[in-house]
Amino acid sequence: MGNKKKSSNSLASNGTSDDALSILAGTDNSNVESEADRLGREEHIIATYAASAKAIDPHSRDIQVRDVTISFHGANLIENTDFVLNYGNRYGFIGPNGSGKSTIMKAIAARAIPIQDSIDLYFLSHEYPATDTPALKAVYEVDEERAQLEADAEKVNEIIAETEDEETQTKLSDHLNLLYERLDELDATTAEARASSILHGLGFTKNMQSMKTKEFSGGWRMRVALARALFLQPTCLVLDEPTNHLDMDAVFWLEDYLANWNKMLLFVSHSQDFMNTVCTHIIRLNEHTKKLDYYTGNFDSYVQERKIRDEEQQRKYDAEQRDIAEIKDFIARFGHGTVKMVRQAQSRQKLLDKKLEAGLTPKPVPDALWDFSFPDPGELPTPVLMVQDVSFQYNPTAPLLFSHVEFGIDLESRIALVGTYRLLKIYFTCQNYISNFFYRSQWSWKIYFC
Ligand SMILES: Nc1ncnc2c1ncn2[C@@H]1O[C@H](COP(=O)(O)OP(=O)(O)OP(=O)(O)O)[C@@H](O)[C@H]1O
Ligand SMILES: [Mg+2]
Repeated sequence: MGNKKKSSNSLASNGTSDDALSILAGTDNSNVESEADRLGREEHIIATYAASAKAIDPHSRDIQVRDVTISFHGANLIENTDFVLNYGNRYGFIGPNGSGKSTIMKAIAARAIPIQDSIDLYFLSHEYPATDTPALKAVYEVDEERAQLEADAEKVNEIIAETEDEETQTKLSDHLNLLYERLDELDATTAEARASSILHGLGFTKNMQSMKTKEFSGGWRMRVALARALFLQPTCLVLDEPTNHLDMDAVFWLEDYLANWNKMLLFVSHSQDFMNTVCTHIIRLNEHTKKLDYYTGNFDSYVQERKIRDEEQQRKYDAEQRDIAEIKDFIARFGHGTVKMVRQAQSRQKLLDKKLEAGLTPKPVPDALWDFSFPDPGELPTPVLMVQDVSFQYNPTAPLLFSHVEFGIDLESRIALVGTYRLLKIYFTCQNYISNFFYRSQWSWKIYFC
């Protein structure tokens, strides 16, 4: 498919000529720069797709865009590949660091590829701002959408009453059903309780829920933003590493919550456990072929299926290479022989050209293995570090955050630190004290904090 369109704004503004239906697209934003255009201009993220994508069914609950290419500063992250999300599936998006997952998500969130307006899409990209709004209110107030939906529903009802065309009436009735379904989901009478339950799951005590968002750190405000995303229940939720700011309890809660997500979910996570619990599908960004490869099942199923696919690809690759070597050998040996042999060599050359033109199977490339090694510090007397009776508070009037902590570290120690996010942060703050301890001690080694 060579015929491509550069992306433009949402489908409703370039995809349907039906004025009655365009009510669902909201106000006329034709003079306002779209997020997709801003991405191209400011961040140099450009998406193109098959022109036929414009023929997409505006009522479909699935996203299907063919022949998508997304580039960042001119370099293609994906090339001529299909982007498909089906309603009800939870997709884990995987690929090596720097391969372009976040950039691609940004492009999708900006609707730089055609996604029908009936699909409301929410991309969690940054924390909730530091304001005077209490955390709980910040969450349940997110559904200003409700008022808009009610107004839309009223207007659609009026149009249905006025129109005589049966086909338009059916289309509008379908839209009306979607609007009412959505209004049910946003039930205002339970809004506060639902918002509170989500915040509780993400670690906010009752007291914290009434605190102003400006009183929270960036990490906690990220949780407020996550709570808003979950509260909204968008048809398509897009999350980039949602567990980054969460402690273990909140991760478990989120895992459980998302495992029951019954709309569309696309998320990046570097935790295999999280993916195993949440995903129904995996999308692999293959950085060698620049394609999106789709796998059914969770991360463990992906690993098995990937092995099978790689082995199959290797067999195909080997067979093709063998064939090509044989053909080349024939041409080399008989290309200058008798007329009959030369003819045969010419026909093999044609066969070879055909094979090359059709494209050869690429050799499967295994994922890079990381091997971390640290310089050998030699023999050290134990304990290497002994912490005895350590207490911590930010200042003499602040509450003690931990007290009488005792532990030792020697060369064989492999220690995982667990606790609430706040406490862990404090431990890490203490790394300076630990470093100072080492530097003041009789040995001079390097300490690595990652
Ligand atoms: N602000 C920037 N300036 C320059 N290059 C950038 C910038 N942001 C991203 N890149 C580059 O764009 C490419 C895609 O980055 P992106 O962040 O989308 O990858 P990713 O797959 O999300 O990686 P990770 O798994 O580390 O989050 C990378 O090569 C990255 O180095
Ligand atoms: Mg990323």
